Amino acid sequence: MSAPRILSGIKPTGKPHLGNYFGMMKPAIEWQNKGEAFYFIADYHALTTVRDPKALREYTRGVALDFLACGLDPAKAVLWKQSDVVEVCELQWLLACVAPMPMLENCHAYKDHLAKAKIPGVGLFAYPLLMAADILLYDSNIVPVGRDQKQHVEVTRDLVTAFHREFKCEVFVTPKESILPTVETIPGLDGQKMSKSYNNTIELFDEEKSLRKKIMSIVTDSSPVEAPKDPATSSIVGLYKLVASPAEVAQMEADFKNGGTGYGDFKKRLFGALWDYFAPQRTRRAELAADPGYIDQVLADGAKRARAIAIPTIERVRAAVGL
Ligand code: TRP
Repeated sequence: MSAPRILSGIKPTGKPHLGNYFGMMKPAIEWQNKGEAFYFIADYHALTTVRDPKALREYTRGVALDFLACGLDPAKAVLWKQSDVVEVCELQWLLACVAPMPMLENCHAYKDHLAKAKIPGVGLFAYPLLMAADILLYDSNIVPVGRDQKQHVEVTRDLVTAFHREFKCEVFVTPKESILPTVETIPGLDGQKMSKSYNNTIELFDEEKSLRKKIMSIVTDSSPVEAPKDPATSSIVGLYKLVASPAEVAQMEADFKNGGTGYGDFKKRLFGALWDYFAPQRTRRAELAADPGYIDQVLADGAKRARAIAIPTIERVRAAVGL
């Protein structure tokens, strides 16, 4: 069997945070050694919420910079901007033509909107179709995503079946999601899942002072210093596990259980481990940022390589439907 094609996307709706890093970027960087890696910055998807063109451009470049700083290697992986390959919108339409409404009505982002009595936009409703188009346009085998995106890959598989059945053809590769079990829940500052929509994120490349302040603001219970504490339910321990060595984690867990150490101390340890963990990436990021043309060049080259896959796919699909 030839090397699998791995594809994933990240939405440029802000600066990448620890949830993005451990949930998507880090596994994506590991996958680049195991197959043909294709990663894009999902700027079309970001437009379901972003309304500031300058911010969208900045976030898009920022995600590219952070991804490269963290080890994405353009010699191994293709990195591009989703909107540089407009054919994905055409494929979205062709998929829309075979997608039953209930399939999309069942998707969680749409349902959440309804549950909160918010009016869902058509873009939000159709979001899973665009994501399916992303996956199918590039003949992807494996889609590394967070648990919250699993449903969208399932929808993609259902669309493949519907499309093949209705047009009596075989034009798509059936994808499979890959979810890292250890990163299923990354706690945010308030103990809920880390997410921009909860405003509880820790950015990868925050300034030292502001990062320290954030870590010190992590919500804890009010146990006094001397009291034994439960490491299993603490977001400090949850985050520390991501960036500290197993021995350091064992030490912190023991200190929790023994009592005699306050949350402030644990937070300082977490800050230290986090700061050290991202030190090499910070250095690399500063080097890359010194050459502003570099990101544009990586993205332009990525778009060219992405098109080389996308164009034959869309031609195949157009032929299959009679266009
Ligand atoms: N929906 C994904 C997210 O919010 C981003 C995304 C868009 C994506 N298209 C994709 C992920 C295709 C994997 C494959 O995180």
